[in-house]
Amino acid sequence: MRTPIVAGNWKLNKTISEAVELVTALRDLVANVTDVEIVVAPTFTALPAVARALQGSNIRLSAQNIFWEDSGAFTGEISPVMLKDVGCDYVIIGHSERRQYFGETNESVNRKVKAALTHGLKPIICVGERLEDREAGKTESVVENHVINGIDGLSAEQLLSTVIAYEPVWAIGTGLTATPNEAQEVHAFIRSLLLRNYSADVTEQVRIQYGGSVKPDNAVELLTQADIDGALVGGASLEAESFAQIVKAGSG
Ligand code: PGA
Repeated sequence: MRTPIVAGNWKLNKTISEAVELVTALRDLVANVTDVEIVVAPTFTALPAVARALQGSNIRLSAQNIFWEDSGAFTGEISPVMLKDVGCDYVIIGHSERRQYFGETNESVNRKVKAALTHGLKPIICVGERLEDREAGKTESVVENHVINGIDGLSAEQLLSTVIAYEPVWAIGTGLTATPNEAQEVHAFIRSLLLRNYSADVTEQVRIQYGGSVKPDNAVELLTQADIDGALVGGASLEAESFAQIVKAGSG
């Protein structure tokens, strides 16, 4: 059985005090949830304060990006060592906004994934097609390209520490979501891709999240699909109550 994972991607939002306020409220709301892994991904500047606010809770910490070197002359970057040091368990890698605005490529994604795993951080690798890809019938080829290159060279053990987030780009922040069936189809396709290089046993254990306008009112039907193992949530994670409702949709 796969434990669902629901992660809040706060993107470029929240000052330190706002971030602490949010997780302090969230902690109480989800305190009784034991069957869903809960993750929040604040901005870098809020990580230390949020880490303190989450001590002793069932909520894990994630960063939104990482660099692959441990240290050195790389102005403006944050290393895996630093993310571990601040208390992160997870790191989001290859979000479509990073691919679109900051030149992230499959190659850089793969280097970051390997660096994260080497330091005991669990990568959440984002994959997904743009609207023009879907309309041109290229959803599977784009997703395949992101997945196969993103996980290139990972051992079975490393893959088991990796989460894949399927996020159709046209559904992010738009209020449009893939229908549960559309999402399930792509999730099953992703699992079939993993089978090319990993055993059925390993493949069955890998968690694949859905992301893109997940809200309290659509979360249950998405999260009850056979191959959807949780959600990566943007907008609805910025408010404790709505994020808690999505977490609970993954429970039971
Ligand atoms: P959204 O963002 O929930 O606001 O669509 C999801 C994401 O980008 O991870």
